[in-house]
Amino acid sequence: MSKFKIAIVGATGAVGQELIKVLEARNVPISELRPLASARSAGTMVTFNGEPIEVLELTPDSFEGIDYALFSAGGSISKEFCPHAVKAGAVCIDNTSHYRMDPEVPLVVPEVNPEAAKRHKGIIANPNCSTAQMVVALKPIYDAVGIERLVISTYQAVSGAGSDAMHELEEQSRSLLTGGELKPKVFPHPIAFNAIPQIDVFLDNGYTKEEIKMVTETQKIMEDDRIQVTATCVRIPVFIGHSEAINITTCEKISADKVRELMVAAPGVDLRDNPAKSEYPLARDYSGKDDVGIGRIREDISQANGIEMWCVGDNLRKGAALNAVQILELFVL
Ligand SMILES: NC(=O)c1ccc[n+]([C@@H]2O[C@H](COP(=O)([O-])OP(=O)(O)OC[C@H]3O[C@@H](n4cnc5c(N)ncnc54)[C@H](OP(=O)(O)O)[C@@H]3O)[C@@H](O)[C@H]2O)c1
Repeated sequence: MSKFKIAIVGATGAVGQELIKVLEARNVPISELRPLASARSAGTMVTFNGEPIEVLELTPDSFEGIDYALFSAGGSISKEFCPHAVKAGAVCIDNTSHYRMDPEVPLVVPEVNPEAAKRHKGIIANPNCSTAQMVVALKPIYDAVGIERLVISTYQAVSGAGSDAMHELEEQSRSLLTGGELKPKVFPHPIAFNAIPQIDVFLDNGYTKEEIKMVTETQKIMEDDRIQVTATCVRIPVFIGHSEAINITTCEKISADKVRELMVAAPGVDLRDNPAKSEYPLARDYSGKDDVGIGRIREDISQANGIEMWCVGDNLRKGAALNAVQILELFVL
């Protein structure tokens, strides 16, 4: 089997570290792993398959000989450096939002639209974490009965905002219990013991950018602009694992039992739905897991063709690193 040279841009970050773990765990055939970050982290070490590897500073020349470059260092870095990687002959898989809605760039969740990846022109985009975990569960319902509308409320973990955000929750929690000060830096308000109904910046229509990402990215991945989507995205004090309440208006009636059957058969989905025993997916249980947990499935009593469900996923895995590696696997396995 051929082996590939892989660069990770943002290798020291929350997603970058998870990318390294997922590449190891899935035995992706790699002849060279090249970790890249800013000058701040150049010279530090990451460990890959038990071997220490030095982190190099990202420069326009970083991609010589690289087959695939996995980007997770922020949108402005992808904007500047993906073109250099493509010029050097690498295929970029980009975790940032920069290229997601570019009509020339496929936006891919392998369980949903793997064929779109093959149409790439050098760059493939990885969706926003909340969208990625949701569409895995929506796809079988869409195929069975069609989807007209989605109303989504999210409960998102702090790791979705990077490693600094995880430290902020840890420090504030400690501080709050010991009578110290709460100094918000990453978030606009204290996140410890709180719920903040703002993820990313506000747009003119009153939605946040994160909420609009869920609308546009869902339509692009499902390849259906007719699906009406609205979302409210909330940050909660959980370290890893996004939870979502999803209300689905289907085109044709579908029973809760039939949805459960679809979820059991769906790739990448783990059905945990036993209300009698208080069993449903929990963020704590799905942190570190590849599958997306689905539970609380019930028929919506307020409309004729409606389903309610609860969806939990590891935002650093299916929401970022795992999905990126699954895209890579479409080419290298
Ligand atoms: N966290 C998630 O759940 C998630 C999910 C989907 C997508 N994403 C996206 O992935 C990206 C990274 O997120 P993250 O959560 O991993 O953030 P993070 O923990 O803050 O890590 C940022 C990484 O980018 C590197 N970096 C920053 N500035 C750089 C520069 N000028 N040149 C080269 N490298 C630079 C950092 O390296 P240094 O060590 O040198 O600072 C670090 O490795 C973001 O665009 C985010 O939107 C995140």
